[in-house]
Amino acid sequence: MSDQKKTATLTVNGQSHELPVLTPTTGPEVVDIRKLYAQAGVFTYDPGFTSTASCDSTITYIDGEEGVLLHRGYPIDQLAGKSHYLEVCYLLLYGELPTAADLEKFENTITHHTMLHEQMQYFFRGFRRDAHPMAIMVGVVGAMSAFYHDSTDINDPRQREIASHRLIAKMPTIAAWAYKYHTGQPFIYPRNDLDYASNFLRMCFAVPVEDYEVNPILSRAMDRIFTLHADHEQNASTSTVRLASSSGANPFACIAAGIACLWGPAHGGANQACLEMLREIGTPDRIPEYIARAKDKDDPFRLMGFGHRVYKNFDPRAKVMKQSADEVLELLGIENNPTLQVAKELEKAALEDPYFTDKKLFPNVDFYSGIILEAMGFPTSMFTPIFALSRTVGWISQWKEQFSDPQHKIGRPRQLYLGETERDYIDIESR
Ligand code: ACO
Repeated sequence: MSDQKKTATLTVNGQSHELPVLTPTTGPEVVDIRKLYAQAGVFTYDPGFTSTASCDSTITYIDGEEGVLLHRGYPIDQLAGKSHYLEVCYLLLYGELPTAADLEKFENTITHHTMLHEQMQYFFRGFRRDAHPMAIMVGVVGAMSAFYHDSTDINDPRQREIASHRLIAKMPTIAAWAYKYHTGQPFIYPRNDLDYASNFLRMCFAVPVEDYEVNPILSRAMDRIFTLHADHEQNASTSTVRLASSSGANPFACIAAGIACLWGPAHGGANQACLEMLREIGTPDRIPEYIARAKDKDDPFRLMGFGHRVYKNFDPRAKVMKQSADEVLELLGIENNPTLQVAKELEKAALEDPYFTDKKLFPNVDFYSGIILEAMGFPTSMFTPIFALSRTVGWISQWKEQFSDPQHKIGRPRQLYLGETERDYIDIESR
């Protein structure tokens, strides 16, 4: 990975320091500043980590300028078109595409871990009925550490493996049960004869008095949503998982931390926020008003589903998602859906507006995923839980990779302190 011969020179207070430059397999070179403080007594300043690599990784590569996303070297459009979610999970976790026998074994393992400890039901029942499913997920996933003690020893590779399988397998059950609890319907247990996506759809939409026939086109679209969200290198929630794990926390606690981070509207919560925005706009004639608000510096409003920290081009996932949205809406006969009309017109208007094109603000994956999920019958509150269940494999793969790095340390950023210097305490009667 590294080419120790290359260096960068940094001059601080008249003194020059040679810093190694590391060469990745692809992408920009990386200046190694690990010894900078020891050598020069200075920190670097990079709020939001816009120019900082926090780790090395072999899992996912993004070229934001070109709109490229590769998992273990394979382009996302090929994976979304030719593969399926559990195969992509295997690829992310183990580094290579599985043989037919490996895949069968992996699918069998995941399928046989989908049930939740029966007592976890009572944990769900402790929440208020109007709890957001993400609130339930943060709590229930964190609580897994209290139910699955036999896979919390992070120093035991076998326990780490079982925790990975449990998380991938149980997350759809947890998300579906959060939904069922929220709607006041009985929990539906997983079924081993169904594939991962069909099982999830059935656990969400079947009721004891009437089973749910899974439509293969909807199940394929669901699987594709899972695949498109599976991993995205060092995004906010993944970095949160890595940071939580760096202290030696157990995997269930780390994934709960990732879910909490994903919840925010600037990250995983954007698909919910995007659909709510499209509904609020309501009709295409109101689009100019919203575009004007998004451009107004004094208005905090942003066009949800637009822009990305890394992509300064079309999000490659958005292209596949758009195609999937067309297929699903055609199947369900709702091509004239008003939200979709607003989405299409808004996309067109933004792409013709220099404010958005100059700033390279293009639709991201969340722009179309909400439309598909709504058409399938999911309420907006379920959009982010579905993202969380899809991303679990990415979090787990990055967590697993962290253990393979012999140099891994507790994550502990520095700061630029701008507060008061030392001063004496003033007694309360003198203030
Ligand atoms: N609408 C209007 N203007 C925007 C938008 C937007 N959606 N996104 C960015 N801008 C503008 C900013 O105002 C800023 O303008 P300025 O340079 O004149 O000050 C410029 O574009 C750069 O914006 P930053 O916030 O600095 O970009 P950053 O990379 O930090 O933010 C983010 C990326 C958070 C995704 C942002 O684009 C955003 O808030 N988008 C809407 C929320 C969204 O869709 N999030 C989903 C992300 S994808 C995911 O998590 C799967």
